[in-house]
Amino acid sequence: MSRFPFPPVPNSWYAVAWSHDVPRGTVLPVRCFGQDLVVFRGEDGIPRVLDAMCPHLGANLGVGGKVVGNQIECPFHAWRFGGDGVCTHIPYSQNIPGKARVACWPVQEVNGHILTYFHRDKHEPTFEVPLVPGFGAAQWHAPTFHSVNVKTHVQEMNENIFDVAHFVKVHHYREMPTATEHIDGPHVRVALSGELEVLGHRFTAANDAYMHGAGWTVIHVTKPFELLVLVAKTPVEVDLVQHRFAICVRRQFGPAGWPFRAFITRQVIADVATDAAIWENKRYVERPLLVKQETGIATFRRWHQQFYSGRQEAGRQQDVA
Ligand code: FES
Ligand SMILES: [Fe+2]
Repeated sequence: MSRFPFPPVPNSWYAVAWSHDVPRGTVLPVRCFGQDLVVFRGEDGIPRVLDAMCPHLGANLGVGGKVVGNQIECPFHAWRFGGDGVCTHIPYSQNIPGKARVACWPVQEVNGHILTYFHRDKHEPTFEVPLVPGFGAAQWHAPTFHSVNVKTHVQEMNENIFDVAHFVKVHHYREMPTATEHIDGPHVRVALSGELEVLGHRFTAANDAYMHGAGWTVIHVTKPFELLVLVAKTPVEVDLVQHRFAICVRRQFGPAGWPFRAFITRQVIADVATDAAIWENKRYVERPLLVKQETGIATFRRWHQQFYSGRQEAGRQQDVA
């Protein structure tokens, strides 16, 4: 039973794998949305995502399956399926039953992540996730990739960006930062600025958080240094989210760059852990007691409502004291 009064998976793009986990010609079993899926990359270099359960006798295509050309071959009786999920080959039969197919999922590969689109009613994607041009480029240190499972709902994690008050207690701001929201359909940018205090030093801080749907966020820190964090939140089961974050620090501060990068990476990991401990142990308050500095939370809940089919509760107008 869920702790949350809304569906477990909002309709959105979600990361199902990092690109480096699925080299050309390989297969990866993944668990997400309470289902078993398989990711494979054809000899043409294109990643594909299918339901993992073979319609023949139910083997998991991701466990022992192999890539043949741009198809996946089942480990049990060697039936083959294309990226569209249609069976193309049965080694001992010319006759391929019309029902010999598995569901195929929309795929986008963005900045080292393989994303698929979940829609409760199986609708096609209505938006795309844009590439982040700087990520992984020569002026930046090589990104590092991190993952932690968090017992919560993606909506709770997404609300964090709009919850300006918590940046003081959790993220080292001296006082509540200023936030400006720019909503554009399923995309929103939140520009945050304020003053940080780290190791006794004060810095002017600024960042932009770009959310594209409920599962993908790009945080671009511009002050006091430049940093990109790609945040991918994927519902695995009810009330369990795989929280991937990829950290890319711009090459700066000359020879001090490497230790600086290590310091920043540790800091981001620690901040995620602090947030996660709160998410895992809080309850969702449908009608929170908000003061007027916290109207961003109500804005967020209204925006996030668009990712649910048929339920209105998640975006109910919040009380502002
Ligand atoms: S179970 Fe997949 S080919 Fe038989
Ligand atoms: Fe946070």
